[in-house]
Amino acid sequence: MKAPFGFVICISLLGSGLAIGGREAVGTAPGNDTRQAIPYADVQRVLDGKCTSCHTGADAARGLHLDSWQALIAGSDHGEAVIPFDAVRSLLVELTTKLVGGPHPAEVGGERLTEAEVALLSEWIDEGAPSETGGIPYADAQHLLYAANQSVAVVSVIDMETNQVIRTVDLQELGFPENASPHHIAVEPDGSHWYVSLITANQILKFDRDNNLVERNDFVRPGLLALDPDGENLYAGRSMAAVSPPQAIGVIRRSDMTLEEVGIFLPRPHALAVQPGTGTVYTASLAVNQIATFFPEDEAVELDELEGDRQHTMVGFAISPDGRWMIGTTELTGTVFVFDLDRAPLMTPVDTIAVNAAPWHPVFTPDGRWAYVGNNRDNTVNVIDMGTRTLTKVIDGIGLAQPHGAAVSPDGRFAYISSRNLEMSDDRSRAGHVYTPRYDLGGNTRAGTVVVIDTESQEIVKVIEIEEYGSGLGAAVPN
Ligand code: HEC
Repeated sequence: MKAPFGFVICISLLGSGLAIGGREAVGTAPGNDTRQAIPYADVQRVLDGKCTSCHTGADAARGLHLDSWQALIAGSDHGEAVIPFDAVRSLLVELTTKLVGGPHPAEVGGERLTEAEVALLSEWIDEGAPSETGGIPYADAQHLLYAANQSVAVVSVIDMETNQVIRTVDLQELGFPENASPHHIAVEPDGSHWYVSLITANQILKFDRDNNLVERNDFVRPGLLALDPDGENLYAGRSMAAVSPPQAIGVIRRSDMTLEEVGIFLPRPHALAVQPGTGTVYTASLAVNQIATFFPEDEAVELDELEGDRQHTMVGFAISPDGRWMIGTTELTGTVFVFDLDRAPLMTPVDTIAVNAAPWHPVFTPDGRWAYVGNNRDNTVNVIDMGTRTLTKVIDGIGLAQPHGAAVSPDGRFAYISSRNLEMSDDRSRAGHVYTPRYDLGGNTRAGTVVVIDTESQEIVKVIEIEEYGSGLGAAVPN
């Protein structure tokens, strides 16, 4: 399974200096580029001619100002208007070409763009939406959130300051198949690299901060990823989609991506977490009530039975930043278990918290005070107070539709929950909580989302639309 043809193509593309997934998003003006870049003045001339009449001043439509580069890049009250390097997924292009009842602004009485104008705007966005002086938007963004779009082989990159999509990484452009199924993402503590598991392509990929693919390896049906913030390893479990995967987890040395499979003697390992400080790895089975503890120094494995007659099906683990508490979410019994890792290897939960249906990926806030988890079959988010170890809030709202991934910003201001939004059309009314995108672009009814929760008010403050089937989220947890 080494280097299928697609990978060879991908290398040659990378070598040719094409902008792939934001390859040129390095904050340098493309100075040596021989292509004639589109001057921003040409873009502004189009906007001034057909857009600024409604998109300027105090009552600019949707809070979107189109009278300067800065304003255009800042986006609307709801999100970004352009995604640098990705014209076809930029709302500005989608609305002006695909809006049903439009194209925009025809539906509101404005004059539509000509084909030449659309082409000019698109080309400029694909060049990275540079300013007059060649500055690339968000080239210096500090805190990035990565969201896997499982059914379209795309990873969306979100800036956690502005909560906008600032890049997309299209795996098909890198030679991977449409059904590659990016599932979960882990990010280096310093943000220098990120890793994504591809369920169907049976790969784990390593990217640098500028979204260049730097390394990859083969691994059958990878699922969750977890990295040791103080050590050199990345760990990989197995996808839920795998019915009887090898009873082993992947142990990957991050520096050179060499991979070793370590037998952990339980079927269908899924939930996965690494304890900060010790580097001890915990994984649990989807099929039986068992947890395996892996000690990397001596490669020892310990198995523990988990209480209960019913099958829990442990989906996710998260460990508090101080390494003391581990929580585990269960699909079939709607529970959050709390384990005291000081008592390890004795895996008896110190608390069993009943939560809403099918709690999925859990995450701690950086201060360890709260844990957030989206409930995959309830379209809610549960907030757990780790001081009292109780469920203190159930967050409900637009944008939650089969919640899946979870992450927090490094300053703890925001929690993020992704949603799949995959219900079929005739289930949509029944399900109640399907998300209907803000604009009908024909064929985008199942756009996934990432909701932004303000951890102060514990309310949803924004819904970020991404591509199809929002699944795992990844953000650096600084150590
Ligand atoms: C006649 C007024 C008018 C003109 C002209 C106009 N817009 Fe709009 N624009 C609106 C309104 C109103 C909305 C809100 C959505 C709606 O009602 O369709 C909007 C929404 C948008 C949005 C979505 C913002 C968001 O996040 O919801 C974008 C992007 C946009 N316009 C771009 C443009 C571009 C590009 C042009 C020029 C080609 C343009 N608009 C011209 C009135 C206008």
